[in-house]
Amino acid sequence: MKKILVTGGAGFIGSNFINYILGYRDDLFIVNLDKLTYAGNLENLKEIENHKNYFFVKGDINNNELIDFLFKKYSFDYVINFAAESHVDRSILGSEVFYISNVVGTNVLLEASRRYGIEKFIQISTDEVYGSLGSTGLFTERTPLSPNSPYSSSKAAADLMALSSHHTFGLPVVITRCSNNYGPYQFPEKLIPLMIINALSNKNLPVYGDGLNVRDWVYVIDHNRAVELVLEKGKPGEVFNIGASREMKNIDIVKLILTKLAKPENLIQYVKDRPGHDRRYAIDSSKIQNELGWKPQFDFEKAIDQTIDWYLANREWWNRIITGDYQKYYKTLYGDR
Ligand code: NAD
Ligand code: TYD
Repeated sequence: MKKILVTGGAGFIGSNFINYILGYRDDLFIVNLDKLTYAGNLENLKEIENHKNYFFVKGDINNNELIDFLFKKYSFDYVINFAAESHVDRSILGSEVFYISNVVGTNVLLEASRRYGIEKFIQISTDEVYGSLGSTGLFTERTPLSPNSPYSSSKAAADLMALSSHHTFGLPVVITRCSNNYGPYQFPEKLIPLMIINALSNKNLPVYGDGLNVRDWVYVIDHNRAVELVLEKGKPGEVFNIGASREMKNIDIVKLILTKLAKPENLIQYVKDRPGHDRRYAIDSSKIQNELGWKPQFDFEKAIDQTIDWYLANREWWNRIITGDYQKYYKTLYGDR
């Protein structure tokens, strides 16, 4: 039985990872360490909360004593670091917590992994560390880092700390850089769930700038299948891009959601652009495809339908979120719309 420390496992991608992997494997024991920030939600893990190979710990990756205790107690074989502040708009409103959780927190995990020894450390990074593309070209693993937002800068800094731990100390680190994810349990501050929920509530759909920014979308389970492969076969010191080659303009996604929900296009409201808004992301994922045999399995049209259906079927999940603090956040960003 291999033991994995999964951090940030109560968030969108981490909870999908745990549900996916415990759903079909019984050779892994998972300790999920999550601080339960606004984005962490134990409801995401209801299906597996009593699984014999699962244990949840509420805590901060910056808590050195707790991290030390957990490494001593469990002798982890692997660490998968999903924990992060993950939203660009919030990083523009206040960057400090991004630096603390994403950079300092990652370093705490790297140092503990070095002290105790592990087989592999996966740092879950993002394509946003590469900056922004013009209308052509793709990010490869050799594209220079050029992050533009406080969020992507903190992720790039964490990547460099992780890679330096490999280079200097031989820590078996692998970095994954994935494009924009969508799927169940995504917090409704990100484009797709925000637009679905606003449309269902007959609220305006705030599209930044001209709506022509491009993101490259991948279904969350395809991302997590890639993470699983990297855990098994990814060579330490390497970086793997992950993406499904599904570029979409924001406005086209928004219109697609409205069509699917039979809502009118006059709900769309163009709003002031995000400061420093990256124009286009697009991933070349040929390395993980050729070296590890990964391929996206989910077709965008079907998986986006499935995702919309999930939000339709899980109104209680997002209704509980959009009261309280969420409203304060929403008002700060979008005013009284
Ligand atoms: P999320 O915001 O939904 O979840 C983050 C989780 O981390 C939450 O459960 C939160 O409570 C936890 N967390 C935050 N700070 C913590 C700390 N200091 N200690 C312990 N737990 C903490 O994020 P997500 O969308 O699931 O993203 C997960 C990871 O994937 C992040 O590292 C993000 O940078 C990366 N990523 C996300 C996307 C995307 O499209 N969402 C794409 C590529 C990479
Ligand atoms: P987001 O989901 O925040 O992901 P990221 O900025 O990390 O790629 O945003 C995706 C795209 O959608 C991005 O170009 C910004 C845009 N966007 C809007 O137009 N309106 C919104 O309300 C949000 C949240 C995002």
